[in-house]
Amino acid sequence: MLNPIFVAIDTPDLEAARELATNLSGHIGGIKVGLEFFCANGVAGVLELTQLGMPIFLDLKFHDIPNTVAGALRGAMRAHPSILNIHATGGEDMMKTAVATVEECAVKMSCRKPLLIAVTMLTSLDSKDLYILGSSDAPQKHVTRLAKLSQDCGLDGVVCSALEINAVREVCGNSFKLIVPGIRLEGNDMGDQKRTLTPKQAIENGADYIVIGRPITSAADPIAAVQAINSTLSI
Ligand code: C5P
Repeated sequence: MLNPIFVAIDTPDLEAARELATNLSGHIGGIKVGLEFFCANGVAGVLELTQLGMPIFLDLKFHDIPNTVAGALRGAMRAHPSILNIHATGGEDMMKTAVATVEECAVKMSCRKPLLIAVTMLTSLDSKDLYILGSSDAPQKHVTRLAKLSQDCGLDGVVCSALEINAVREVCGNSFKLIVPGIRLEGNDMGDQKRTLTPKQAIENGADYIVIGRPITSAADPIAAVQAINSTLSI
């Protein structure tokens, strides 16, 4: 099995990010950089990490009107990510425009089209948060509906928690990519995450990729932490 772990490198410090990614390379499938890294370092910073030769998931979770998201995606494509994402709650028109924009950009740049993924429901939210936001649906129903909408709009997959994988697979099938954050080991501090499972449970449930941040990056020895996780996945 190819290594499904994308390590979330959430730091504004380019040198620290480069050092961590370099140390972990060979033990992981790729790296994920998001708003914390991108706001400090921009496309130029991501390109520096691209040079390490690992796939990059550029997790900027765009959520805006279609025209603005299209412009932002054109900019993000300059970083040559393997995976890009937007929020499904940006709606049908925004998602369809995003799909067309990424396809056009890849043709113009003569590069492989990155996976375009929709965030369904942040793993830091639970049913109570969803209720406060105005939905009385359970997270599983909410996530599955947004996943189906994303698939109908042409997206390659969704971000969901490990708890919704089976329900999404039933509706969206096996080739739809499922990227799963909210990963915690037994005894880990949950931090701000609410819908969590272990790496092994997420992979057994059928995640294509798992995103792991603090359980690795805050460990006293991040390489040992990732090796321990890999052994639970028989990697
Ligand atoms: O440190 P931790 O493992 O909680 O990091 C999870 C990473 O995944 C963070 O970078 C966070 O931004 C990202 N993420 C998430 N939930 C989503 C989408 C992305 O936690 N639904």
